[in-house]
Amino acid sequence: MSTEPFKNVRLLPQTNQLLGLYTIIRDKNTTRPNFIFYADRIIRLLVEEGLNYLPVEPCVVETDTNEKFEGCSFLGKICGVSIVRAGESMEQGLRDCCRSVRIGKILIQRDEETAQPKLFFEKLPTDIANRYVFLLDPMLATGGSAIMATDVLIKRGVKPERIFFLNLICSKEGVDRYHAAFPDVTIVTGAIDEGLDENRYLKPGLGDFGDRYYCL
Ligand code: URA
Repeated sequence: MSTEPFKNVRLLPQTNQLLGLYTIIRDKNTTRPNFIFYADRIIRLLVEEGLNYLPVEPCVVETDTNEKFEGCSFLGKICGVSIVRAGESMEQGLRDCCRSVRIGKILIQRDEETAQPKLFFEKLPTDIANRYVFLLDPMLATGGSAIMATDVLIKRGVKPERIFFLNLICSKEGVDRYHAAFPDVTIVTGAIDEGLDENRYLKPGLGDFGDRYYCL
């Protein structure tokens, strides 16, 4: 699928392998252990892709054959921020790629009185303004929570162009709404779904990601 109409969306290459992984996690008959295993594989791909956008500097090392190798090394510090609860499923994938990475958390829930998303809790690295941030949430549906979470990051001094929002599936309207608020944040995703159903679940989607990963 082309991301032509979407600026700042990096869609993973739509290979047969990736399609196969999505077919398994979207299948309602997939067991929880398999859902976790294959979702984790996609998460790993998203993290690896996100790392491609971090700045590097040239670096020369000497190999064991006493030859020079002209490579590069990463510049700048990163951290992860998961949107609780579903986003926490992506933390291990980030740790698997970036040892000892700092990971903050943001909890947003629906306010029962106003029915609007409400920020309940944030715990972020104190120096987050100096870091590149991988914002973690597997499903971008209406964009409400992601927008609120990104707002928290920006109020803490993170520059939008240093934020990479990693998700497994997003909706077109979620992307549009999110990018209307934050055009300079890069969305890294593996699938863009057509829309939302009457319960604001992604279509075709996969149901409730948090329930499938943690509960059932
Ligand atoms: N969150 C989910 O878990 N699934 C959706 O389809 C939308 C939001």
